[in-house]
Amino acid sequence: MHTIYQYQEFISEYLQSQYEPKEPKNLYEPIHYILDLGGKRMRPVLTLMSAEVFDADYKRALPAALAVEVFHNFSLVHDDIMDDAPLRRGKKTVHEKWNINTGILSGDAMLILAYQYFEKYEPVIFRKLAKLFSKTALEVCEGQQWDVDFEVRNDVTIPEYLKMIEYKTAVLVAAAMKMGAIVAQTSEENANLIYEFGLNLGLAFQLQDDYLDAFGNPETFGKQVGGDIIENKKTYLYLKAIEFSNPAEKEQLLHSFSIKMDDNASKISAVKEIFNSTGASQDTQKAIEEYTLKAFETLEKMDISEDKKAMLKDFGENLMGRNK
Ligand code: IPE
Ligand code: IPE
Ligand code: MG
Ligand code: MG
Ligand code: MG
Repeated sequence: MHTIYQYQEFISEYLQSQYEPKEPKNLYEPIHYILDLGGKRMRPVLTLMSAEVFDADYKRALPAALAVEVFHNFSLVHDDIMDDAPLRRGKKTVHEKWNINTGILSGDAMLILAYQYFEKYEPVIFRKLAKLFSKTALEVCEGQQWDVDFEVRNDVTIPEYLKMIEYKTAVLVAAAMKMGAIVAQTSEENANLIYEFGLNLGLAFQLQDDYLDAFGNPETFGKQVGGDIIENKKTYLYLKAIEFSNPAEKEQLLHSFSIKMDDNASKISAVKEIFNSTGASQDTQKAIEEYTLKAFETLEKMDISEDKKAMLKDFGENLMGRNK
């Protein structure tokens, strides 16, 4: 096994080895721009880790890992258009630096490039990876549509929210790990358990993302803090705040989430205040911990050595303590 830092390095090196000068520049430059901004590279790290957990050389899993990361970056380029986001990884989003059409087409190309990486595998593995990828990618689209639909609804429930984040985020984390298992040709049972682990970790991860969107430090977060509040996103924070609020707080929340406001700064501070006063912030932290623990329970069922379990657990714990 390797350290998270080493896996990140392997991914960066492999990514750089894939670059070749290609035209038209306005299609490929934004692709390299977003990929070179890096990010945590958590999904491909999980693919490589998972392959090694099931006794394969991480090198075998590099194309699958990169496929997942390129797909993830595609989803971010389009997500930033949909969320009207100005910042990504501390830099301008693709559609802000270029324009919306460039974001759409470069994103489309990335989706196709991602798929091409599976061609590096022999037919039996290729088929399994491609099948999982197609299913997952479609689910991400479904989750993203729900996320956008919820912006203009005021009757979103917690189960609906959980389904939405499972689809837009958790299934990709889960699939990233299952791909490592597929490449390693481990048992079906192990592959399904690691998917389950990734799914719960992914749910905790998106809950944490929602939390940081409101309460992250603008210096380190890399995205516009308060973006979800500006966009009227029905996050766990918001839904719990509605549930726990008194009539006056509830009216204020419903009102500020029913329109797009001119004064975003005062909307953000008023809403954050309510997130805290109602106990919604604390409850979100509790949910993050619960899903992380649920992920750890799945680990116990897995037929792998204790030190490998410890490593996956360590990854989960680090993820929950993140600040971006
Ligand atoms: C952002 O993902 C999108 C979500 C699903 C929350 P990450 O937080 O993994 O973004 P990067 O790749 O590290 O920038
Ligand atoms: C993103 O959710 C999920 C996908 C990109 C599929 P968010 O919209 O919360 O992600 P960020 O906060 O912009 O990274
Ligand atoms: Mg977004
Ligand atoms: Mg979004
Ligand atoms: Mg977010």
